Amino acid sequence: MAIYSEEMIQEVINSNDIVDVVSEYVQLKRAGRNYTGLCPFHREKTPSFVVSPDKQIYHCFGCGKGGNVLSFVMDIENLEFVDALQHLANRAGMELKAVDTGYIDRNKDLRERLYSINLEAANYWYTNLYKPTGKVALDYLYNRKLDDNTIKKFGLGYCNNATEMYNYLKSKGFTEEEILKSSLVEKKDTRYVDKFRDRLMFPIIDVRGRIIAFGGRVLNDSKPKYINSPESIIYSKARNLFGLNIAKKEKLDRILIVEGYMDTISLHQRKIPYVVASLGTALTEEQAKLLRKYSSNVVIGYDADGAGQAATLRGLDILTKAGCEVKVLQLDKDDVKDPDEYIIKYGSGRFENLVENAITLVEFKLQLLLKKYDINKIDEKIKFLNEMAVVLASITNEIERDVYVDNISKTTGIGKDPIYAEINKLKLKFTTDLKNVTDNRVLLNQKTIKKDETVIEKTEKYIIYLLLENNSDIYNQIKEKISLDYIQTEKFRNIIKKLFDYYETNNKVKDIVTIFSEEEDINIISSTICLDYNTKGVEKIVNDIYKTLKKNKLEKQKYEILNKLKEENTENKQELELELSKILIDLNKF
Ligand code: GTP
Ligand code: MN
Repeated sequence: MAIYSEEMIQEVINSNDIVDVVSEYVQLKRAGRNYTGLCPFHREKTPSFVVSPDKQIYHCFGCGKGGNVLSFVMDIENLEFVDALQHLANRAGMELKAVDTGYIDRNKDLRERLYSINLEAANYWYTNLYKPTGKVALDYLYNRKLDDNTIKKFGLGYCNNATEMYNYLKSKGFTEEEILKSSLVEKKDTRYVDKFRDRLMFPIIDVRGRIIAFGGRVLNDSKPKYINSPESIIYSKARNLFGLNIAKKEKLDRILIVEGYMDTISLHQRKIPYVVASLGTALTEEQAKLLRKYSSNVVIGYDADGAGQAATLRGLDILTKAGCEVKVLQLDKDDVKDPDEYIIKYGSGRFENLVENAITLVEFKLQLLLKKYDINKIDEKIKFLNEMAVVLASITNEIERDVYVDNISKTTGIGKDPIYAEINKLKLKFTTDLKNVTDNRVLLNQKTIKKDETVIEKTEKYIIYLLLENNSDIYNQIKEKISLDYIQTEKFRNIIKKLFDYYETNNKVKDIVTIFSEEEDINIISSTICLDYNTKGVEKIVNDIYKTLKKNKLEKQKYEILNKLKEENTENKQELELELSKILIDLNKF
């Protein structure tokens, strides 16, 4: 059977305007941005068949059929894919050229080629360090107190300011296409320009030892401090951890997770081998699961600044959910801001001590609350007490709780009695909440949830609609607020995931719809496109969508937990209660 390249197929589709093609079978009338007509696939008296000229897609709201010009021809002429393709090629006066079947493995081969390119580049940059022109970079590393062994172990390197990578890789036998796909080189008009220039290079290596990307650091204080390889068919930053390829060589009793490349490398050199870094993003669920394979004992050692602390809270959550025991590293000195500076200044022994004395989640939260509220002010003191009680109420071991209460009482001057009163008030509220959830109530609520489902589906479709605009600005706004786990309808979530991936890989196609090939997906896409949603004022729209979905998610979680708590012999009662209290606090904000 003949195989046609994506490009070929795309060209055929592009050469046949969907409105023209459909018009050969259906009488269409303009309606706003779209055209409507009587559906040719089922009997109807009022038109529910919509064609979108912008997106080159059709959908029937009556019978649910939909797709692009190719699927239209397949359906209406009852043709197989290849025959429909031929039909449309003929219609546009084009010649269909098949490709040889070697093409099927192209992606796999391409991956291997990209690993090879990265390896060549890493070696090249490594040797640069020891050439006269690389002296500035080598000196920089020495200044940061890294030694030759470490430099070699992590494969650090230096890329010159000259643009030379293209020719170098060409001389190693790579094609232009491969080199551009590696993202180490960009094509500007007719010139090939290195992506990384005058930077220290940090290879990012996966657990199988393949170089999947690079981070490049400036040698001074200019911005951006780091630039990194984009996501690609070999690199997903959410699924990898810097340094894990080295850490995993040891038997790991615990893992310390830090923010920076430099922290990781510096700690490794100073005999702390169990360190990894999350690649410049908040820790993801995938990373947590990956860690968990090596050790479930995790210490978070993020920077002492506000951003670091916020990331710690999120990290605690994600790691606990993944089933890890999590503690938080506390730098006990104010004159250093991260683990790298600490260990250089105070040595490995003291650093090991810090790791040993890492604090629990409860302690960490209490510390944050103490920083957040000025307890000399009455109103803030009350808020502090409220939020603190939530944390304390989750501790079921009374001796342990008493230790904390005692401690807080001493630090804040608030008596132990009021603290206990607050905890008990909260526990009472839990119990009444729990009692109220009789089977009936839960049922009732499931009904309202059901009713809400149409609203939720519409909201989720709105996201798809916006993403189909093929506009990175819109995507960035969405990504900032909405994560995949907010999407409750699985089939929509899959589509949104594909669209997210599409934007992340940064390989723009003219017609975004073509990234979908499953019939079910295409039906959803076409029905979405043919809606007439507003796309002006995206920020507000996205915010509204976020609120709707977030609130819905919280409500659902609340009922799930309440239901679990109702069962007798619930094992992890205290965790569930803690989670519930967090949810109730969050829900209060809506
Ligand atoms: P030093 O400042 O040299 O100590 O580097 P560091 O590795 O300790 O970095 P830092 O703590 O400032 O940041 C933590 C991590 O965030 C880095 O290792 C990078 O992965 C990432 N990062 C920091 N700055 C930037 C930036 O400007 N752009 C991007 N894309 N990532 C950054
Ligand atoms: Mn640092």
